[in-house]
Amino acid sequence: MNVIQYRTGAFYLNTSLIWFRFLSCSIFLAVSSLLIPHPLMAAQSAIASAHPLATAAGERILDQGGNACDAAVAVAVTLAVVEPFSSGLGGGGFLLWHRSSDRQQMMIDARETAPSGIRPQHFFDVDGSPIKDATVRGGAAVAIPGLPAGLARLSERCGSLPLGKTLASAIQLARDGFAVDSRYVNIVEMRQARLRQSEGGQRFLDRGQVPKVGFVLRQPDLANTLERIVEDGFKSAFYSGPIAQALVNTVNGAGGVWTMNDLVNYQAIDREPIVFTYRNARITSAALPSAGGIALFQALGVLEHFELGDAQNPQTAHLVVEALRYAFRDRWRLGDPDFGLPPISKDLEKIKLNQYVKNVSPDRVSALESLDESPISGGDHTTHFSVIDSAGNRVAATLTINLLFGSGLVGQGTGVLLNNEMDDFTLRGDIANSFKLKGGVANGVAPGKRPLSSMTPTFIEDEKGVLVLGAPGGSRIISQVLLASLNYIHNNEVDLRRMVSMPRYHHQFWPDRLELEPNGYSSEWVKKLEDKGHRVQFGVRPWGNLQAVFQSSKNANAQAASDPRGSGLAWY
Ligand code: GLY
Repeated sequence: MNVIQYRTGAFYLNTSLIWFRFLSCSIFLAVSSLLIPHPLMAAQSAIASAHPLATAAGERILDQGGNACDAAVAVAVTLAVVEPFSSGLGGGGFLLWHRSSDRQQMMIDARETAPSGIRPQHFFDVDGSPIKDATVRGGAAVAIPGLPAGLARLSERCGSLPLGKTLASAIQLARDGFAVDSRYVNIVEMRQARLRQSEGGQRFLDRGQVPKVGFVLRQPDLANTLERIVEDGFKSAFYSGPIAQALVNTVNGAGGVWTMNDLVNYQAIDREPIVFTYRNARITSAALPSAGGIALFQALGVLEHFELGDAQNPQTAHLVVEALRYAFRDRWRLGDPDFGLPPISKDLEKIKLNQYVKNVSPDRVSALESLDESPISGGDHTTHFSVIDSAGNRVAATLTINLLFGSGLVGQGTGVLLNNEMDDFTLRGDIANSFKLKGGVANGVAPGKRPLSSMTPTFIEDEKGVLVLGAPGGSRIISQVLLASLNYIHNNEVDLRRMVSMPRYHHQFWPDRLELEPNGYSSEWVKKLEDKGHRVQFGVRPWGNLQAVFQSSKNANAQAASDPRGSGLAWY
């Protein structure tokens, strides 16, 4: 792998290569402009992920002739090894894929699922009070993982290479180890108490202590699990036999109620993504059980009725915040669509949006009840990557084990770190989850049900080209993707580095406050929003880790950018 091809966040790593690329691109553009249209012109590929080694694994697969789906499998499994606190085989996610040859596209719902033995009562004591931390720690917090089935589905639907190739980098990194970076160290520091509590969790430490940058993390059990998956396939290796049994034993040993059948019966589901237009852009995003695509549809549906400037401009920001408030207020009615939820009809949604629009004033916050003082957490949890290949196939995948290091439980002898996704269910209308999200009965706990998510893997197509994007960060995923989408759609020039770097604001209706990234906004800016009635509060830390790739329809050039808040890498 030629590492000097990489660009990280806003920084170029090797200027001579950039000049070479610049000159080659200029010559290419000059020649290609003589040849319009360009039926045979090779488009560029691009990958952006939250870890350089995962991006490199994906690039290697494209070099070997794999397509975007093959690269996505490689990136996802490598992230499970090198960014274990965000996602992995013990978690789930949503994978949006598009095949250019027939323009088929689908969302693979690989969301974790409540085990058949779970009941709401598992999370309440005899007095009916919620048991502290029961949805985030211990066996009851763990839902049946979906990522292995989701990756199997992705390979079947649009992949072309065998798992022996797509998993090779991840296996090597798990077996030989990799040097941890400062992000890993900081996150272990935050979560050390949880990790010390289980034998599996200890393996992320250095002999019981928080490791130093450069510590080589080896995960031989995970390497063995991945090798078994290469031999037997994701489905039979992971959801039956000794790996599945080890997961059941670990979860139940910690108070869970899993059965082998819960694993055997797990299915990734093909779902039609949410597709809609905003101004001249066609947007494809996550369907239920993620609320992300619907929230994006609602927020943009409100904003379509207004003249907008740059989303960082205070007047436009006021409208964006209003749109977010309405979108998040409506989230309470959402949940797993396979559990009796009335279908969400775009026409009905539009009628409702028109009603909202009437209430939105450019001058003043609209009256929506609810106040709360407690802070919103989230910003690092979860991971996202975006891939586009030279044929125009693309994948946007947002993957998670929920909170950092999930439940902290590791299936004995498997290296599989398990999620605490049960926290994304709504225990009761007055009880918020870790992201301060409240919900309704549609998202109540039930056996075999999938908890509502905010993950928002998204494609945007317009006359400029196609953008593939997404982000981690719990409820803040939705505002990040909305701000990035507005930045793309409302600018003629595509500047992904600005898109991933620009400061962020967030509102989720409840708690009722507008959160700003620290150092991102001036006191004048804040005053303008306060004058319109917003309750403004600076967050403690920046949030998010947006990963975006773009392929131009004019000249087939690609761009990619990885959020400078993280330590990811964009390649094109
Ligand atoms: N676990 C965070 C989400 O799915 O939104």
